[in-house]
Amino acid sequence: KDFKDQMIIDAGQKHFGAIICKSCGMIYTAASPEDEAQHIQHHQRFLEGIKYVGWKKERVVAEFWDGKMVLILPDDPKYAIKKAEDVRELVDNELGFKQIVLSCPSKIKTYFFVSNERKIVGCLIAEQIKQAFRVLSEPNVPQSPNQDVLQHHRAWRCSIKPEVAICGISRIWVFSLMRRRGIARRMVDVVRNTFMYGCYLSTDEIAFSDPTPDGKLFATKYCQT
Ligand code: ACO
Ligand code: ZN
Repeated sequence: KDFKDQMIIDAGQKHFGAIICKSCGMIYTAASPEDEAQHIQHHQRFLEGIKYVGWKKERVVAEFWDGKMVLILPDDPKYAIKKAEDVRELVDNELGFKQIVLSCPSKIKTYFFVSNERKIVGCLIAEQIKQAFRVLSEPNVPQSPNQDVLQHHRAWRCSIKPEVAICGISRIWVFSLMRRRGIARRMVDVVRNTFMYGCYLSTDEIAFSDPTPDGKLFATKYCQT
């Protein structure tokens, strides 16, 4: 009898805690049927969305040991544009953006970071812009153990003086299980090199629009170095 009880408890515990799916990255509780159903739905949609089949005239703009970068332009074949739109939708979903209209669809450049396993693990959308408003650095507040928490809740202050910028990064996203491997950094490096023919944009000439807390941490670090 004791043995049987133990089994039940073990099984119960196994299903109680949060689980992180190793393929789609979703965190869910297997104890909850709604959660499990939601996971199955997200899992399939996500993996289908990031699957990269490729096409004949794909524009490879960089190659790395762990993948390559592909650029999609507005005049590309329909299936390439469709893929760019599908991935943008996934990203917008994750960022909580709802139906944000691109300022000028005919000018956007979509960059994918495609892993060796042929999955789109990074996406960057860049648009040509004329001006940007710099996010002001925060006044120095004393370091406290809650620093991180504060950092994540503060709204950014922006300067009211427009500055000249050339390339606006309206979305940057890296698959949750592949973060902190320099994928975002490499994507921005490649954008600076390929956005305008024949020149390497300085960090002053690129602007991140409306950054999330993650985006701000990344951008601050990137622009410093
Ligand atoms: N916290 C603190 N520092 C960070 C973080 C973070 N979450 N992310 C990046 N950095 C800094 C680090 O210093 C890092 O170097 P290190 O790992 O050697 O310390 C450096 O930036 C470079 O980071 P990468 O590895 O190149 O960044 P990554 O590939 O992980 O992608 C990104 C960063 C795109 C912000 C990713 O976290 C993400 O997709 N987040 C969710 C989506 C999102 O919020 N995107 C930004 C939206 S804003 C916009 O699109 C304009
Ligand atoms: Zn999953």
